[in-house]
Amino acid sequence: MNTKNKFFITTPIYYVTAKPHLGSLYSTLIADVLARWHKLLGKKTFFLTGTDEHGQKIAQAAQAANKEPKEFVDQFIDAYKQLWKDYDLAYDFFIRTTDQYHVKAVQDWIIQLMEKGDIYKDYYRGWYCTPCEAFVVEEPSLDQTEQGPLCPVCKRVTVLVSEESYFFRLSAYQDRLLALYQEHPEFIVPKERANEVISFVKSGLKDLSISRTTVKWGIPFPGDAMHVTYVWADALNNYITAVGYGQKEKQQDFAYWWPAEVHVLGKDIVRFHAVYWPAFLMASGLALPKQLLVHGWIKVGEQKMSKSLGNIVDPQWLAQTYGVDQMRYYLMRQMSISQDTQFDIADIEQRISADLANDLGNLVNRMLVLAEKYNISQIEAPIIWSQAAADLQAASLELIDIYKAYMDDFQIHMALSSLWKFIGQANGYFHAQEPWKLAKTNTEQFVQVLSAVCHSLYTVSILLSPVMPHKTKEILKSIGMDKALPDHALKHIVEWNKSFVLTQIPTLFEKPQPKTTETAMQKEEIMETSEYIDIGDVAKVQLVVGTIEECQEVPKSSKLFQLRVNFGDKGTRTVLSGVRQHFSKEQLIGKQGVFVYNLAPRAMMGIESQGMMLFAPNEQDKLQLITPEHPVPNGTVLR
Ligand code: MSP
Repeated sequence: MNTKNKFFITTPIYYVTAKPHLGSLYSTLIADVLARWHKLLGKKTFFLTGTDEHGQKIAQAAQAANKEPKEFVDQFIDAYKQLWKDYDLAYDFFIRTTDQYHVKAVQDWIIQLMEKGDIYKDYYRGWYCTPCEAFVVEEPSLDQTEQGPLCPVCKRVTVLVSEESYFFRLSAYQDRLLALYQEHPEFIVPKERANEVISFVKSGLKDLSISRTTVKWGIPFPGDAMHVTYVWADALNNYITAVGYGQKEKQQDFAYWWPAEVHVLGKDIVRFHAVYWPAFLMASGLALPKQLLVHGWIKVGEQKMSKSLGNIVDPQWLAQTYGVDQMRYYLMRQMSISQDTQFDIADIEQRISADLANDLGNLVNRMLVLAEKYNISQIEAPIIWSQAAADLQAASLELIDIYKAYMDDFQIHMALSSLWKFIGQANGYFHAQEPWKLAKTNTEQFVQVLSAVCHSLYTVSILLSPVMPHKTKEILKSIGMDKALPDHALKHIVEWNKSFVLTQIPTLFEKPQPKTTETAMQKEEIMETSEYIDIGDVAKVQLVVGTIEECQEVPKSSKLFQLRVNFGDKGTRTVLSGVRQHFSKEQLIGKQGVFVYNLAPRAMMGIESQGMMLFAPNEQDKLQLITPEHPVPNGTVLR
């Protein structure tokens, strides 16, 4: 039980290879909304976010940009902080894994676990996925490509790594982890994600490699200068180091805040949080976080919106075009946390026009305009409410309970849906009472309608404030309730006995001009400097034209063709290509194509491939040959 009445919530810490995008914003927004909600419930809250700055991925990006890793990551920090500010993400602390207190605390953590025997030295050999910073489990079922097996998570090519490594004794925690999932079914939300984790753990846990000798950019492994700490053993610990773990002067803070109530994370990083992280904590004798809230992805078409896939939409542009609160509302209303959602500009515009401008904006506007027309600005609650107003009040009380239940369950989109149902009821009430007639015939009844609408708007604004902090403040201002909000505002909205003072405010929501998703994506066309390569990098790749003279299936492979390619004066070579699903042999034999000629040879299915053939995927992802417009001599080098 949470006896401290506190709420500690975290976001994943972001890889800083580029500026933040809508996906990173989404994780942070969920945490912000939940922190604000718990504040409304009267809790002391701590909202942590930050950046994950070590590892191969960042070192490579820095190298490509011709910068030192630290200098490279530094340049993006302001962009993160600025975006969080622009979207009103009111975090309490921003951790960077290059912060010295974190580095030192992680090193102390390692020493402690080595002394306990939970960390030991051995050898590791396996396929490593650099984008995910993770070894992939080697199984025959891994998809093979010419360059190597694909990572089962991100579907990118992995590389074979063999090195001395320190290991965390993860296997020793299998039973305790399974007991955790069983005794605390609420630990992983939603449940579907828990099932995946349970079957992963049941399939058997191997000890986890937690150091690298091939990577230099990381926390130096204590007592062994050859090694740096594996990025996840470094990164996950941010959740404790940020609140004082390993820092003498912060022991009390740590005792107060840890464990976290909620870690917010995307579905791609569940295993790290649901398996490795609790095991690390068990090994350190620390309490476990209460819940992992796992959200789905924002997708464009069938793909996750991601920097490396080049399909991202600039959140700054969205905020400038549609408004911050409008975007916050769209992201929280449109996305069901547990599922993936397609990003669509038309949905944003529809939500703003229908939900915000028509439903909410009009309710505020119609009431204010009518009151002003009849010179009413001071509104007292009636002694006795009419039946219709009492029904509306009952609906508002019911709403508070439903809204709370949904928020407790992290179903923010459903909480908002119930809120909008109530806004519909309030609009219906206003319309049915025909206050424009009452204003002329029965002032008392007229004021009662205004009062009922003000009470409704008060309830709506308080409940909606975690999602739309600005616009709800405006509404509260229009009814004279923006100052001195009580700590327990949720309790305050229950009684319908308030006095309101009306003030005119500018139109709350403008209906947007229609745009397209493509327009939004074009705003990101300008590449990050980190993505540029220089001319020297281009010169490194030799692209050569050759003719496919022979083509045969590679036995036991469903994908590979073995090609015999004539490169003219340069001779002939064997090239393996995983394109059997795209071409028949006849479609390839006799064709000229473009090959990466100076790729290091590598064996697949026991055959050495001496180059790589290039193709262009069409819109349906079907590969097309890249053939010179008119035949050129075999062996021609592209320039
Ligand atoms: N650095 C690790 C996390 C370490 S936490 C101890 C990492 N970073 S990340 O920058 O790649 O991703 C951070 C978060 O952003 C993840 O939760 C991820 O799911 C989320 N998103 C990134 N793209 C996304 C979408 N397109 N949609 C929704 N969220 C996604 O992983």
